[in-house]
Amino acid sequence: MNDKNLKPSIAPSLLATNPLAVGAAIDQLPESCSWLHVDIMDGHFVPNMNGQPGLVKAIKDRYEDEFISDVHLMVTDPDRVMDLYMDAGADVITVHQEVLYHHHRTLSYIRERGRMAGLSLNPATPLSTLEELLPHVDVILLMSVNPGYGGQHFIPQVLEKVKRLREMIDRTSYPILIEVDGGVNEKTASELWEAGADVLVAGSAVFTHPDLDIAQAYEALLPRH
Ligand code: DX5
Ligand code: ZN
Repeated sequence: MNDKNLKPSIAPSLLATNPLAVGAAIDQLPESCSWLHVDIMDGHFVPNMNGQPGLVKAIKDRYEDEFISDVHLMVTDPDRVMDLYMDAGADVITVHQEVLYHHHRTLSYIRERGRMAGLSLNPATPLSTLEELLPHVDVILLMSVNPGYGGQHFIPQVLEKVKRLREMIDRTSYPILIEVDGGVNEKTASELWEAGADVLVAGSAVFTHPDLDIAQAYEALLPRH
C-alpha cells in the first residue's frame, strides 16, 4: 500500500476502460491519483462478468505501490476466491453484505492477511445491517446503483444514506472510510463530498467523459476547497 492520503480520493474504475488498453488509460491518470478500483463480477451475484486476479497482479507488477488496489468482489461466494485477489496484490478487498453468512469471519480474515476489509451494501440494503460490524471494517462501500454495469444513473436516495452513515461512523472512534460507487459525475460528486463521503468510485465520468481528457475529468471530480 502506498503512503498517499487515503481521503478524500477518487478511485477510477477500470471497468470503463477499453480492455485492450487498460495500461494506457491508467498512464493518463494524474500523479495525485492514489486509488484504482477493480470490479470483479461472477455472472451470478450480478448479471455481468468482469475481472480476474491476473489483472490485479499485472497492475501491482507494473505500478508497484503507486496505487491502492481496491478490489470490489461482486460475487456470490467471496470466501472461495478472495485469497486469489489478495495473493495478486489487492490492498482493499470489498465483499458484499448480502452474500455473507459469517461476516465477522470473512472480514477478520481479510484483516489478518494485512489488507483493508471493505463491506459493500446494495442500494436496498439498510444501514442497520452494519451495526454489529463497525469494529470489523475499514471501508464501507455504499452502492449508488444496482451493481453490474458502468454508466448507470445515481439513485438519489443514496445521498441521504451517506449522510446517515457519516453520522453513524462519527458516533464511534473507528476510522472507517465511506466509499460510494455508481453514477458519480461532477454534480453527484460535489453532493457526495458534502454528505461526508471519503472515496468516490468513478468509471465513465473519468474514462469516457465527452469533453475532458482523463486527467481533466479526474480533477473535475475532486472537492473544491
Ligand atoms: C458497478 C461497478 C462500478 C462501476 C461504476 O457495478 O461496481 O464500480 O464501474 O461505473 P460508473 O462510474 O460509470 O457508474
Ligand atoms: Zn465497483
